[in-house]
Amino acid sequence: MKAALMSMGSKSSQMTLVAMKKYFSVVDDINIKNMEVMLGSKELSILYNGEKLQKYDCIYAKGSFRYAPLLRSITTAFYGTTYMPIKPNTFTIGHDKLLTQLALQYYKVPMPDTYVVSSIEAAKKILEQIKYPIILKFPHGTQGKGVMFAESFAAASSMLDAIETLKQPFLIQEYIETEGSDIRAIVVGDKVVAAMKRKAVRGEKRANIHAGGKGEPIVLDAQSKKIAIDTAKSIGAEICAVDMLETVKGPQVIEANLSPGLQGITSVTKIDVADKIAKYLFEKTKEFIEKGKKTETSKMLVDLGVSKEGGSETEQQIITNLDIRSERILLPKIVSKLSKFDEKEDVVIKASKGKISLERY
Ligand SMILES: Nc1ncnc2c1ncn2[C@@H]1O[C@H](COP(=O)(O)OP(=O)(O)O)[C@@H](O)[C@H]1O
Ligand SMILES: [Mg+2]
Repeated sequence: MKAALMSMGSKSSQMTLVAMKKYFSVVDDINIKNMEVMLGSKELSILYNGEKLQKYDCIYAKGSFRYAPLLRSITTAFYGTTYMPIKPNTFTIGHDKLLTQLALQYYKVPMPDTYVVSSIEAAKKILEQIKYPIILKFPHGTQGKGVMFAESFAAASSMLDAIETLKQPFLIQEYIETEGSDIRAIVVGDKVVAAMKRKAVRGEKRANIHAGGKGEPIVLDAQSKKIAIDTAKSIGAEICAVDMLETVKGPQVIEANLSPGLQGITSVTKIDVADKIAKYLFEKTKEFIEKGKKTETSKMLVDLGVSKEGGSETEQQIITNLDIRSERILLPKIVSKLSKFDEKEDVVIKASKGKISLERY
């Protein structure tokens, strides 16, 4: 099986690449900086060093928020034909803290209260009513660099004036007192494979390793694991890091990271996270290929069955996968043809767990 790791070539990506080579027969190391996307009258095409990209069984694409549009385009081009652990629109959601929180809200994943406003004036009105301290945050910040802590209205108000000159969107967020610590969990599939507690250095509120934070290994309780896994599911990522803050009410999610650093968590927990990721990618790719073959065979059976029977009065049985888009089930074309239903007629739909029937009214 052939895989490609598309990344910015960081140390963490190198670790993942080495691990993937233990499982896949071919693993290409592709630098996203040398990739281009072409849209227009012809099909969506992806170029690498100016040449059309070849076909892979598995593509693991990741990079910083600057590459979100590129990553989304690349994964869109291969969606459905190649196994990819991160969905196209996940790149847009996961690289934006506001979009991430909207997804978390939708799936009822706990998070700190957050305000979004359209102007500095509106923000100041909130600042007059809110409880201090608070956090101001840029939706695209990473490594703690876009996070600001304000102890009072005066501090927050002057920060807002500075933010105004940058013409950047920002979030106002409830400050969760954790004595400068947070929890980072690495989710791979439906498991948390490693977790650490990070503690900010003295006088610092941000627990990021890049901001000097120190990590220690922890074993998450069932609730925290579930919240981390639900976060990954909410944004459509099979592999990601989830940052949480511990509160008396349980953990609250502040961020999901689609391209987490592996060095820190590996040395803190002594867990070979890169290997866990590589092994997962391999197993899922195998499953994806098998599923593809099964779909092919069942499609062939459908074609054969229909051409043999011909008539539409006899009941036909079809074994196939379901195509579910935005929670709507799309039936195979052949089924619509056989039923001879047309849009204007009324039908009775009966549905229960594991069963649907559709009959002319
Ligand atoms: N609402 C909050 N309350 C308390 N601390 C926070 C809050 N939001 C962020 N922090 C601190 O700042 C750090 C960075 O925030 P995060 O949202 O994860 O952004 P980044 O992408 O920069 O890592 C966190 O690890 C945490 O220590
Ligand atoms: Mg973070």
